Amino acid sequence: MNHVSPRIAVVTGAARGIGLAVAQRLSADGLRVALVDRDEAELAKVATMLPAARIACVTADLADPEAPRTIAQEVARLLGTPTILVNNAGIAPKHDGRAWSVTETSLEEWQRVMNVNLTSAMLMCQALLPGMQKEGFGRVVNVSSSAGRTAAVLNGPSYMCSKAGMLALSRHVAQHYGKDGITSNTVALGRVITPLALLWTLEQEEAYNKRNPVGRSGRAEEVADAVAYFVGELAGFTNGTVLDINGGAFMA
Ligand SMILES: NC(=O)c1ccc[n+]([C@@H]2O[C@H](COP(=O)([O-])OP(=O)(O)OC[C@H]3O[C@@H](n4cnc5c(N)ncnc54)[C@H](O)[C@@H]3O)[C@@H](O)[C@H]2O)c1
Repeated sequence: MNHVSPRIAVVTGAARGIGLAVAQRLSADGLRVALVDRDEAELAKVATMLPAARIACVTADLADPEAPRTIAQEVARLLGTPTILVNNAGIAPKHDGRAWSVTETSLEEWQRVMNVNLTSAMLMCQALLPGMQKEGFGRVVNVSSSAGRTAAVLNGPSYMCSKAGMLALSRHVAQHYGKDGITSNTVALGRVITPLALLWTLEQEEAYNKRNPVGRSGRAEEVADAVAYFVGELAGFTNGTVLDINGGAFMA
């Protein structure tokens, strides 16, 4: 832990998977954490796993462009001004175990994935960066994917483009807000075992693990550890970077 506590963090998509692991880790590191998710029932369950005095749960559907402004107001009311934002919420549609190609992708799917995965991240930045500027400190971490960096294993163009967009959004924030004490970095993930990854068949999982230099998929806690570094007080000179957390899959 290296925080001049108590910093306040917002983690989107925090009811399960990677977002939950990040929320748990940041809370354990002494931060106050707002967990944002559309799944109210799951949020209520995970709230019991975290120290009540240091967390707040906000139910919101990030597909709604009005949601980020409301989230910012609610977090400010419940915890104070957030200076840490982890844009993690994301969806990766599959159809009968596979992603659609460009010629199969509907405009509805494209827009839904873009709204949830990318537009919401931009709007969350829009809602929270002014508070970070006032505090003279900010940390933004964007959760992208190997699918935004290279060929996708099992994802289609809507997901790939949304995750590639996260890389550019992150660089923009890094470039334009660095002078305000705000950094922005990205984690680009290979397969990490979460409910989302369990949409893969056993055969797909085994093939991925076999090809991967470390011979397995990742764990959400391993991603949370990297996020914990990026949001730390001592990470102020780490800005505009992409950390590939994929077991070395790029070499395979
Ligand atoms: N798990 C992987 O293998 C993997 C690989 C690369 C990137 N990622 C990225 O990591 C992030 C987290 O993935 P995960 O595996 O933990 O997924 P997950 O499906 O297990 O959890 C995602 C969470 O986001 C929430 N969410 C989804 N849409 C939402 C919306 N419209 N509004 C509010 N909340 C919403 C869900 O309710 C859920 O709690 C995603 O951005 C995903 O693209 C995951």
